[in-house]
Amino acid sequence: IRLLSVTAEMFPFVKTGGLGDVTGSLPMALAPYGVMVTTLLPGYPAVMAAARERRVVAHMDSLLGHAATLWSATVDGLDLLILDAPALFDRPGNPYMCPDGQDWPDNGIRFAVLSRMAADIAQGRIDQYRPDIVQAHDWQAGLVAAYLYHDGIALGTPRPPVVQTIHNLAFQGRFPASCLSEFGLPPGAFSVEGCECYGAISFLKAGLYHADRITTVSPSYAQEIQTPEGGMGLDGLLRHRSDRLEGILNGISTDTWNPASDPAVHFPYVVGDMIGRAPNKRDLQAEFGLWADPNAFVIGIVSRLTAQKGIDLLADVMPRLLAGNTQIIVVGEGDREIERGLAALHRQYSGRFACHIGYSEVLGHRVPAGVDALLIPSRFEPCGLTQLGALHYGAVPIASRVGGLADTIVDANPAALARGGATGFLFTPVDGETLVAGVARARTLYRRNRPAWRQLQLNGAGYDVSWNDKAAHYVMLFAEALGMDMSSPA
Ligand code: ADP
Ligand code: GLC
Repeated sequence: IRLLSVTAEMFPFVKTGGLGDVTGSLPMALAPYGVMVTTLLPGYPAVMAAARERRVVAHMDSLLGHAATLWSATVDGLDLLILDAPALFDRPGNPYMCPDGQDWPDNGIRFAVLSRMAADIAQGRIDQYRPDIVQAHDWQAGLVAAYLYHDGIALGTPRPPVVQTIHNLAFQGRFPASCLSEFGLPPGAFSVEGCECYGAISFLKAGLYHADRITTVSPSYAQEIQTPEGGMGLDGLLRHRSDRLEGILNGISTDTWNPASDPAVHFPYVVGDMIGRAPNKRDLQAEFGLWADPNAFVIGIVSRLTAQKGIDLLADVMPRLLAGNTQIIVVGEGDREIERGLAALHRQYSGRFACHIGYSEVLGHRVPAGVDALLIPSRFEPCGLTQLGALHYGAVPIASRVGGLADTIVDANPAALARGGATGFLFTPVDGETLVAGVARARTLYRRNRPAWRQLQLNGAGYDVSWNDKAAHYVMLFAEALGMDMSSPA
């Protein structure tokens, strides 16, 4: 099976969050099943620099009015098609925002052009490569299915099936109706049975409406988005399409996430070796200027700083979180107000609270290798990847019981502890009080019953965070979408 993956970010070239991790690691996981992934992504400066050795596939004078070159390259074993449209993508920094933190005003046409390119490739308009199936990631690739649908009507061209994957329903790509012709969509596309959504054009809605299959990144989130509380205005459509919607958990690359060879980990250790990770805690306390106390209960947070992630809840309850000789480390960036709040806490509670405001892949790995627990108080979480790294590295997750967090963490309630299957602590609903209670529960077990705490860590280390089963699940889904008979032996 040849799969075209269409995405706005991909690790290690460009990443703002978990989407990049997933699009960067899934191809390697699918390869053993005979699914050959080629990824179409924008030619941002970082991508062009990483793909120095590249071949021209096609020149386009006008892709929705923009000159572009399509390049192909293989970098770090990843097959790429790079859409080099300098007027749209040759900009530094974050792929979606100007340096001042505002969305680029032309994000609509930027990602319409990406999707238009994908639809052309999918219909065989490019020599050399034609996919059997397309996976469109998030709103930035939402128009792929819409273009294929309308081309099919107008030109009768055959089209491959499209799987629209939702990584985060909060970002829908909404643009004014007046952009319809700029985006190259026919007037008829602006309808409830198309890309129209509450009076605007919605890229994601178009994808969800026209895709052959819809996936999201955990079974619980697949349920949540079909409810008015979690559906962000699209729950009706998602309920309507529920027979086409599936939740498949994310995995992480256990090559990148291996504490024995991870360059970010100063004192390497084998997964499950809890004694071996101890020096990393000391090292982390020193690096962050926390009191050098081996008995402190050290909690880490690695997160985008947005309302989704619930980090704003910390400030009000900080004294209670830090009680009982607790220390907290935050690595994150995002919302300026949350950043300022954390910096103030850092000054107020120095020695016990520290933050690194910024994006640091190294700290993103070093923190879970050294802390006792990782805190994830998300208000909603489609899947979440930091809890997976934490479980694998021996940091016990303390998280809200939502989405993928609920699906990947087994709460240490008395029954689960007795059975020996618990891996962390879940709290609900998401507010300051439950957050404090969740942390207190964890701290109490850590202080009073170290063998039980060790068992939690071991259970977590034994949990399969890899892509193995999840990749197999995708393969079944792709095969089914292609109408392949999976009952006969290969
Ligand atoms: P989301 O995609 O919603 O941000 P995920 O948990 O799925 O949440 O993925 C976030 C990814 O980004 C993880 O790999 C995490 O370690 C990383 N990350 C987030 N913020 C930072 C940061 N400030 N520094 C380093 N890594 C970060
Ligand atoms: C999104 C979600 C996160 C998920 C990631 C990768 O950014 O917020 O929960 O893990 O996508 O699918």
